[in-house]
Amino acid sequence: PFPLTVKQILSEFRLTKEELKEVMKRMQQQMDRGLRLETHEEASVKMLPTYVCSTPEGSEVGNFLALDLGGTNFRVMLVIVGEDEERGWKVETKNQMYSIPEDAMTGTAEMLFDYIAECMSDFLDKHHIKHKKLPLGFTFSFPVRHEDIDKGILLNWTKGFKASGAEGNNVVGLLRDAIKRRGDFEMDVVAMVNDTVATMISCYYEDRSCEVGMIVGTGCNACYMEEMRTVELVEGEEGRMCVNTEWGAFGDKGELEDFRLEYDRVVDETSINPGHQLYEKLISGKYMGELVRLVLIKLVNEELLFNGEASELLKTRGSFETRYVSQVESDTGDRKQIYNILSSLGVLPSELDCDVVRLVCESVSTRSAHMCSAGLAGVINRMRERRCQELLKITVGVDGSVYKLHPCFRDRFHKMVWDLTPHCEITFIQSEEGSGRGAALISAVACKMAS
Ligand code: BG6
Ligand code: GLC
Repeated sequence: PFPLTVKQILSEFRLTKEELKEVMKRMQQQMDRGLRLETHEEASVKMLPTYVCSTPEGSEVGNFLALDLGGTNFRVMLVIVGEDEERGWKVETKNQMYSIPEDAMTGTAEMLFDYIAECMSDFLDKHHIKHKKLPLGFTFSFPVRHEDIDKGILLNWTKGFKASGAEGNNVVGLLRDAIKRRGDFEMDVVAMVNDTVATMISCYYEDRSCEVGMIVGTGCNACYMEEMRTVELVEGEEGRMCVNTEWGAFGDKGELEDFRLEYDRVVDETSINPGHQLYEKLISGKYMGELVRLVLIKLVNEELLFNGEASELLKTRGSFETRYVSQVESDTGDRKQIYNILSSLGVLPSELDCDVVRLVCESVSTRSAHMCSAGLAGVINRMRERRCQELLKITVGVDGSVYKLHPCFRDRFHKMVWDLTPHCEITFIQSEEGSGRGAALISAVACKMAS
């Protein structure tokens, strides 16, 4: 029923298994380069050591504060870690969400961290705990080169953040300074972790085979437990250390050029960080809606959609939100949901238009799921080889709005990962409140080690 040319245009989004294997192979090459002393600086995939190790020595119990910065929402949480006979830990949380104003995201680092400290102060007031000097776990979802678990410099902002004066500086120091500037509360910052790491740890608490953490939300990234002897940037041979891959930057050295389409190039060129995070820009929620919009505009220009006419709104960058992609693909078949979204964007679609729009969303989100599965398969196949295991049984902890809210992403993603990882038995678990619980549990272990 569709004119061939719509199909032709959308067929570019389809990736064969052979192509995905190629992506996987290139990802593994970059991972390897990122881990090695002599090549890590040129690698697109940074493979950042996290100082979160495989040998926790028990944990403190008590109250912890956790911060979560870098996803859709900024959150402050109070986490109560207790003992549990079966699992070892018991965790309860209270949390509050704060929105980060645009000017704090793109102003100066001081403005951003002052705002964070202001939210913390508000939270402590509300829970009547301002007088306590609590240990704090900070989930900071950006690439950080750690020197220790509580010290590391921000390499570069991603996902639309741009606060000046932060890149190249110790993030924990920036937070401590902001708390000092306020002077109305004290805090003991004991650990800083990436959201993938917090997610992995929070799921580890449910399932001790969880050695991989992944986020598909505003951004896209993964971490996993790597053999210590292979993490050349850190001394020591025994055990494993969690490595934050920062795979979102895969492609930044040209490794994805033969896969990037005209829409991907526009998304990149009009973004706040052109030339960076190219793999992430094919996958994550920050860019998915805009990719769909660019394809729709292409179809309009080819006179294959909306009688060749787009509304001003549809021509406006960012107007097709990523949540619309989920809503379009959730339509039960009566096209009502699709019709409503399109009319809110100022176009009056025919039934065929609605069907074409659905196909566009499916093409973009399926490519996203498949691209992402090539990355995860790369990580897991590598783990199996390194561990010389005939069958690797492993659990992956996952979080992020695309994974959780898109109606089909998860199934398409799982299926392709399983397809690309023979000899592995992979279980996926969804993290709930991962960042708060994960950051607090890591802090609890760090406190124990320090004492
Ligand atoms: C949240 C985690 O649930 O998921 C955050 O607590 C994480 O730490 C986020 O960054 C990722 O998803 P999104 O969609 O908010 O970017
Ligand atoms: C971006 C960040 C990374 C984070 C991911 C998911 O890729 O650079 O640190 O884990 O988004 O939030």
